Amino acid sequence: MPMKRIGVLTSGGDAPGMNAAIRAVVRQADALGVETYGIYRGFQGLLDKDWRPLTTRNCANILQRGGTILYCARCQPFTVPAVRAQAARDLQEAGIEALVVIGGNGSFTGAELLEQEHGVAVAGIPGTIDNDLPGTERTLGFDTALNTAIEAIDRIRDTASAHERVFLVEVMGRQSGMLAVHTALACGAEAVLYPENEQEGFSSLVSQLRTGWEKGKRASIVVVAEGDKTGNAYAIGQRLQESHNLDLRVVVLGHIQRGGSPTAIDRIWGSRWGAEAVRRLAEGERGFFLGMVAGQLVAQPLARIHEPRPAPPRDLTDLLPVLAR
Ligand code: F6P
Repeated sequence: MPMKRIGVLTSGGDAPGMNAAIRAVVRQADALGVETYGIYRGFQGLLDKDWRPLTTRNCANILQRGGTILYCARCQPFTVPAVRAQAARDLQEAGIEALVVIGGNGSFTGAELLEQEHGVAVAGIPGTIDNDLPGTERTLGFDTALNTAIEAIDRIRDTASAHERVFLVEVMGRQSGMLAVHTALACGAEAVLYPENEQEGFSSLVSQLRTGWEKGKRASIVVVAEGDKTGNAYAIGQRLQESHNLDLRVVVLGHIQRGGSPTAIDRIWGSRWGAEAVRRLAEGERGFFLGMVAGQLVAQPLARIHEPRPAPPRDLTDLLPVLAR
């Protein structure tokens, strides 16, 4: 029996490109004669049965918009097995035969449980600005967030140079240094602090700043990942000020990185993954998430989500001090 109705939801932190993926899901499904229901506020929408049909017209003019028309939420009650069982029953009653889940690690874990415990057909699309999922070199939103951070830091660099100051710029990434390391490389930062770094952060930061000073650098940009073990940017800034009496300023980019119109890359991958997820579900595949490896679109079993998060590539972290001289 051909599939008749699927659901799509966005979950976790929003990421630019999610709307592109939703649009592609709806339009590819329509092309295959499948109806799409939009589920609102992630897994919370499953619990509340907050779903409505999405038509190809509903998703006009969303490709270029950040955020998500389906809203996002982090849903604690979904960790309870009985709650998932009820959600699976409600989906079945509503005739929603498969689910496309756009989100990150936690969202895929919820999707996997629905599949394993209740046989709900699920497909995952990686959507998080953190770019920290195993099995894919790219997640939706990362490229946009990276470009947003770069643009902001280029501006900060101007005023840092004018006042000969040190700036600590905090970027997102509670558990991942991907965004921090890529931003640092693209901005020519003097130093970067990120959670996966095993070295003692503060003393190596001081020695990097000192080396720069001795070479005549009077302005420096230090990129700090939100989840760095040394502390957040304010804490590190205070320590630096107390120990070295530096003229420094702290900027926290925060949620600015999560918003904005998606870049071409995030629009294109959102569109490709959205359509591919529907095509595969329609062919009877299930329990997978999509990704990109070596430039190619790939599908991975959802179980891969339990592998360790990818750390920032070693060649990038090795290159940073070479280029910061
Ligand atoms: O997972 C994406 C992300 O933006 C992280 O980089 C950040 O640590 C977190 O979400 C912030 O979450 P919230 O918006 O719920 O504070």
